[in-house]
Amino acid sequence: MKIVNARLRGREGLHRIELDGARIAAIVAQPALADAGDGLDAAGNLVVPPFVEPHIHLDATLTAGEPAWNMSGTLFEGIERWAERKALVTHEDTKTRARKAIDMLVEHGIQHVRTHVDVTDPTLAALKAMLEVREETRHLIDLQIVAFPQEGIESYQGGRELMAEAIALGADVVGGIPHFENTREQGVSSIKFLMDLAERSGCLVDVHCDETDDPQSRFLEVLAEEARVRDMGERVTASHTTAMGSWDNAYCSKLFRLLKLSRINFVSCPTESIHLQGRFDTFPKRRGLTRVAELDRAGLNVCFGQDSIVDPWYPLGNGNILRILEAGLHICHMLGYADLQRALDLVTGHSARTLQLGERYGLEVGRPANLLILSAASDYELLRSQGHALVSIRHGEVLMRRTPARIERYS
Ligand code: FE2
Repeated sequence: MKIVNARLRGREGLHRIELDGARIAAIVAQPALADAGDGLDAAGNLVVPPFVEPHIHLDATLTAGEPAWNMSGTLFEGIERWAERKALVTHEDTKTRARKAIDMLVEHGIQHVRTHVDVTDPTLAALKAMLEVREETRHLIDLQIVAFPQEGIESYQGGRELMAEAIALGADVVGGIPHFENTREQGVSSIKFLMDLAERSGCLVDVHCDETDDPQSRFLEVLAEEARVRDMGERVTASHTTAMGSWDNAYCSKLFRLLKLSRINFVSCPTESIHLQGRFDTFPKRRGLTRVAELDRAGLNVCFGQDSIVDPWYPLGNGNILRILEAGLHICHMLGYADLQRALDLVTGHSARTLQLGERYGLEVGRPANLLILSAASDYELLRSQGHALVSIRHGEVLMRRTPARIERYS
């Protein structure tokens, strides 16, 4: 297969991309072709590696309102409502909902996904279901499973054992939720425990860290220091860190030095955080997001994720990561010209680095033949036009094709 008239980010002119089975065989500069022949015509639009979803909860998707809606809109009521729904979770129920959500992601050009699966359940029912889904959907996505202790490691009975069992069963990433543990001390010891587990097992780390407006929640410094001392930074991710939006500048100026030394990654879920946080404020009302632009300007790796699709924490969502990107750029004051020029970094290359995809990702000869043809010729124009992935190619074959809406004008 070959794609012609492809525009590539960071390169001048148009290109022909040749695929040899499941690998990219050649990328060659070529003037515009009026006739694409037997090639796929990108029509001068961007061709990029697949979009990445670095943070979602596929085991909880499509459960909003079952059995009750989250009326306060807070994170903590979400956890309560989920605990009720969790009692009804079955193997098939989890698989059916996760497969529906994966289809939504695929239809928006996502081929790499990291999902956090709740392991605070003595039966580990959702985890066992998601391990099967990971295998059954390999033709659609590469799925990383995080062993995520929704109700705590130290403050949930048997929490440590369940985390270890989840990793032994085949989870790829060790999770955590230190700000939800009952005490500061438990939060700190949970981080030491999960970092030990990751070091022993060779797993990556992705911690729900300081997902609160409480400015006293300061577990990011603990996670970053553990990552620095163990030299594991690139393998470690801090998700959410929304409390950073409430920390003062004096503290952050010291903290950022440690963050840079640690080299850890960051995921922000802007639609979910703007919805869940700020709920205890009247006015002024905080945005409840981490310092995305500031992390980015400091050279730290930061990306955007969806977090939820129709679950107790967030009632909307359709799998479209470009919707998250647009909202995030607005909320984080990142609509400056320079940011718009390279906005797709936040849902492609930066996310791939968070997932440690290495040479399994990217438009380079020899790498997997996974790519997207988009509906616009630049990052800026894709955002402005609320564009889409028009074609998704995986393992050298067309996985998804979208026909744009057609408008008929009569005057
Ligand atoms: Fe999350």
